[in-house]
Amino acid sequence: MEIRSLPPQKVDIEVIYTFCKQLIEDYETDPIPMEKVLTWCHRKIQQNLSEYQVFWVNGQKVGYLRCCPPEDGVMELDDFYILEDFRGKGIGSAVLRQQVEQADQKSLDLRLYVFKKNEAAVRLYQRFGFHIVEEAGNSRWIMLRPHA
Ligand SMILES: CC(C)(COP(=O)(O)OP(=O)(O)OC[C@H]1O[C@@H](n2cnc3c(N)ncnc32)[C@H](O)[C@@H]1OP(=O)(O)O)[C@@H](O)C(=O)NCCC(=O)NCCS
Repeated sequence: MEIRSLPPQKVDIEVIYTFCKQLIEDYETDPIPMEKVLTWCHRKIQQNLSEYQVFWVNGQKVGYLRCCPPEDGVMELDDFYILEDFRGKGIGSAVLRQQVEQADQKSLDLRLYVFKKNEAAVRLYQRFGFHIVEEAGNSRWIMLRPHA
């Protein structure tokens, strides 16, 4: 399977935002000021759009990932979404494999936040060498993958 990575366009902002909102609605268990958080998410996507990649397979848009600029040898992955019709087909694993290989080449550790209740995603990350290092509030784990 060939996965192409291209920069996002303005139309992608709302799509990424919708996934972000869905994830919070599905998994957030901490009492959060929902409206404020959603406004923050939208602004984050808009202001950091150049850090996002859009993944394409066979001419179809299949997903998104943000790679933050590395700080102190650690690169944070954020907003990782595969479009619903394309989930469970190995695309997310292929994207993670690429990221892990590139991070190893650059001697970068990878970090991400994941909702504890998103157990399938936690397992997926564990398969790629991420492990839980910390709690973020009560609802999320911080996971880290040290470089090879
Ligand atoms: C998590 C996600 C990015 C994985 O991408 P994917 O293309 O479905 O992943 P793959 O097909 O390579 O692997 C699927 C694995 O991911 C896990 N998974 C997590 N969420 C899943 C979902 N909604 N549908 C299918 N598989 C999911 C499964 O456990 C599966 O493991 P298995 O092969 O042992 O059954 C994708 O399912 C997704 O976008 N989910 C909703 C948003 C989300 O949870 N993002 C992560 C935020 S931290």
